[in-house]
Amino acid sequence: MNEINLKLKEQANNYPSLKLSDRQLCDLELIMNDGFNPLTGFMSKDDYSSVIQNMRLKDGSLWPIPITLDVDDKFVLEISSSSKIALRNKEGFVLALLKIKDIWEPDLLLEAQSIFGTIDTKHPGVHYLLKSSKKNYIGGKIEKISIPHHYDYRNLRHTPTELKNIFKNKKWDKIIAFQTRNPLHRAHFELTMRAMEDLNANLLIHPVVGMTKPGDVNHYTRTRCYNHIMKEYPKDSAFLSLLPLAMRMGGPRETLLHAIIRKNYGCTHLIVGRDHAGPGLDSNNKPFYGPYEAQDLLKKYQDELGIEMVPFKFMIFLPKSGEYKAIDEIVEGEEYRTLSGTQLRELLDQGKEVPEWFTFRSVADELKLSNPPLTKRGLTIFFTGLSGSGKSTLANGLVTRLLEEGSRPVTLLDGDVVRTHLSNELGFSKEHRSINIKRIGYVASEITKNGGVAICAPIAPYRDDRAYNRKLISNKGGYLEIFVNTPLKKCEERDSKGLYALAREGKIKEFTGISDPYEEPKNAEIVINSSGVSPKKLVNEIYEKIVDMGYIRRVK
Ligand code: PPS
Repeated sequence: MNEINLKLKEQANNYPSLKLSDRQLCDLELIMNDGFNPLTGFMSKDDYSSVIQNMRLKDGSLWPIPITLDVDDKFVLEISSSSKIALRNKEGFVLALLKIKDIWEPDLLLEAQSIFGTIDTKHPGVHYLLKSSKKNYIGGKIEKISIPHHYDYRNLRHTPTELKNIFKNKKWDKIIAFQTRNPLHRAHFELTMRAMEDLNANLLIHPVVGMTKPGDVNHYTRTRCYNHIMKEYPKDSAFLSLLPLAMRMGGPRETLLHAIIRKNYGCTHLIVGRDHAGPGLDSNNKPFYGPYEAQDLLKKYQDELGIEMVPFKFMIFLPKSGEYKAIDEIVEGEEYRTLSGTQLRELLDQGKEVPEWFTFRSVADELKLSNPPLTKRGLTIFFTGLSGSGKSTLANGLVTRLLEEGSRPVTLLDGDVVRTHLSNELGFSKEHRSINIKRIGYVASEITKNGGVAICAPIAPYRDDRAYNRKLISNKGGYLEIFVNTPLKKCEERDSKGLYALAREGKIKEFTGISDPYEEPKNAEIVINSSGVSPKKLVNEIYEKIVDMGYIRRVK
């Protein structure tokens, strides 16, 4: 039961309010439910500096990653004479009071370098710090009003106290935690079974459902998969609980955090694999951390933390015996099978069966449901180019072709149409253009998520805005950028709306190509030069390229 401290709730109205971001909400929940014990609030400046310098809180407790509350300058001004602030969720429901201890401007580059060992923004943790984090941190103790409310999977969410009580009632005293941000397959099942047998222990499947790596399988799909796999474990041997952690993909240091959290939730062991909590590849396509750095770091501190590491064994399938074995137990020359994440995605993209030796049928069915083949997946086709480059003509032609093909509903978000229906209060300043493009991106992402095709055709002159949309939409389905690369001279000759002439005369300000920049795309999937070729031919060319990419079924 989620109790509410009514007295504090009433007091909250006297203090300035802060609406928390998704990540801050996750952190607050773990501070309030003791998952982050010994933290009792967002870190003060002393604790923060000490964690950065020594990987320890000021009192000496091991702590690997700053847990901080970032806010903008405007909010700092707003709270200049307050002693507390009220922390609220997105709907404005008050969750806690924070007693302000200090407010400071952190050195985010130093934080990135000390905690993640890099300032390369390809690292998701660094990206957050350098691109999203607000400039100021507020430290102070938390007074709990109410644990954040979740509408989903409430019976699978537990506080550390609840989970420890469940273990106690089950008389489990050795519990191995399995941390994951992915669906579980046969290899994971076999390795967790093996760990239970070897240690004569029970198992906690403890998936992160707060924030994981961008692009991961969403937590609804994953939880349906976990529910299926739980049925495969022997009766009363394993338990599933969802963890509201916001991962930083911090590799070795994050592994220590995972261990601290699992200890708090009553576990005695933690399975740690190769490149645990790994952030992927850096800007030079090299791994950020060594494959065993995470294991090595936890090994060093496991006694102090009071939780034992169980090294993850890479399990592979032997088709001859139909069994899984750890890779180090394979005799030379023995035939084996593995399937990489990329290969799995390819099978799903092409609508092919996922082999049963790799994953349970029930799990494969869930993955197929949330990853339909490319020919049925939602898609955004984003035209960009100068005014008069031919975007609208091509976009309209493509709409017709796709409606004739008929596999999905199609919506056209043309520049002029959007400015009439979505953005009619906006002008053409850099700021307004960004808002306009992000609005288009948001609508397109919703259409894509729901399996339709969104065809967008704004000028979209700025690279950052296009990159923002690409990132947002690629998580929901397909994304193709088409650069209509008609030279300015040609666009100006056409001048179908007479706007270039007015721009040259200075009667229209900030006109793209004349008095405002157009930043050419460098990574567009398709580049078109519309001069001298008929629109019909160009639409056909684009259509065929989309077929080649697998998004439209090829008619033989
Ligand atoms: S943006 O930059 O992406 O927000 O522009 P967009 O929403 O596509 O709107 C472009 C259309 O608005 C007309 N127009 C201008 N374009 C560029 N710069 C300035 N200052 C400007 N003022 C009005 C122009 O007709 C564009 O239409 P298209 O269809 O691109 O020619």
